[in-house]
Amino acid sequence: MSTDNQVSHQTVRWIHVTDLQLGLGKSAGNDNDTIARSLIEQIASEEADFVINSGDLIHGAHADQTLETIMEYWSDYQITVKPLKGKSPILSAPGNHDMTREDRSMERYCRETGRADQPPYYAATIQGVHVVCLDVVSSLHRGGFPKGSKQEVWLKQELNRLPQVRGLIVVGHYPIFLSPDFYGRFSDSSLHYDERTGQEGVLLPILLKAGVDLYLCGHLHTYERTRYDQLTQVMAGAYGVAYPDLMPYQPNQHCQALDERQCYVRYTLTKDAIHAEAISLQGAVVDAWSQALNRD
Ligand SMILES: [Fe+2]
Repeated sequence: MSTDNQVSHQTVRWIHVTDLQLGLGKSAGNDNDTIARSLIEQIASEEADFVINSGDLIHGAHADQTLETIMEYWSDYQITVKPLKGKSPILSAPGNHDMTREDRSMERYCRETGRADQPPYYAATIQGVHVVCLDVVSSLHRGGFPKGSKQEVWLKQELNRLPQVRGLIVVGHYPIFLSPDFYGRFSDSSLHYDERTGQEGVLLPILLKAGVDLYLCGHLHTYERTRYDQLTQVMAGAYGVAYPDLMPYQPNQHCQALDERQCYVRYTLTKDAIHAEAISLQGAVVDAWSQALNRD
């Protein structure tokens, strides 16, 4: 990944998309794959400096899938993201559906995302924006960030030796902030913030200490924006089918916006702020907000 550590006051634009799940349309007989292609074409027209995909690139990890099916889904994914080639590099974090059965290996995901024989977690700086992509699915398939893991050690070192950057983004498939109804079902206590006890888990204190501006995630197929201390979590929505018991539900106490529409999120970094808009498949602005940078 090419990097550029020079800090300027130039405007930087990026897009966050998630849960494209290529192959779901074929296996479930729905319009998921068509929607994914439309979203990517729309995103390509934005001509962003980079695109963040927070996981579930394909609809894998099912017990009855053959290697042939998995390869077909990856081929569908590569064809779908073609409009971005040569325009906007894609920074990806793996999702639970990206782990290929039967051993739920991450090897194929790494190969398909240009990281063959390397860990799925990594960091890159683009125009003064530092992006850290985490793997929160390998050690615990339903989401976790165990204390003492190789990745935890790496993340602390990575954030300690940070070059001078304007914006700091961390990407992981599962949310840190989510409805208490989902605790234990989609992430364990090392990853999520428990609003019933106030326990922050393992990952959140590391992000807060480093002054991370944004934590970008997905998985629940809905759009949510949450603010806690100086950190904003944004869960983008792709396929418009939220879990049946998710909508309507009692959002977590830090949630500031919630929407069920398929969308991607467009970010613009200016001299001293991040401006964001969630854009639906129909081009409607679902949500818009701005926040000051945690560093200048
Ligand atoms: Fe997922």
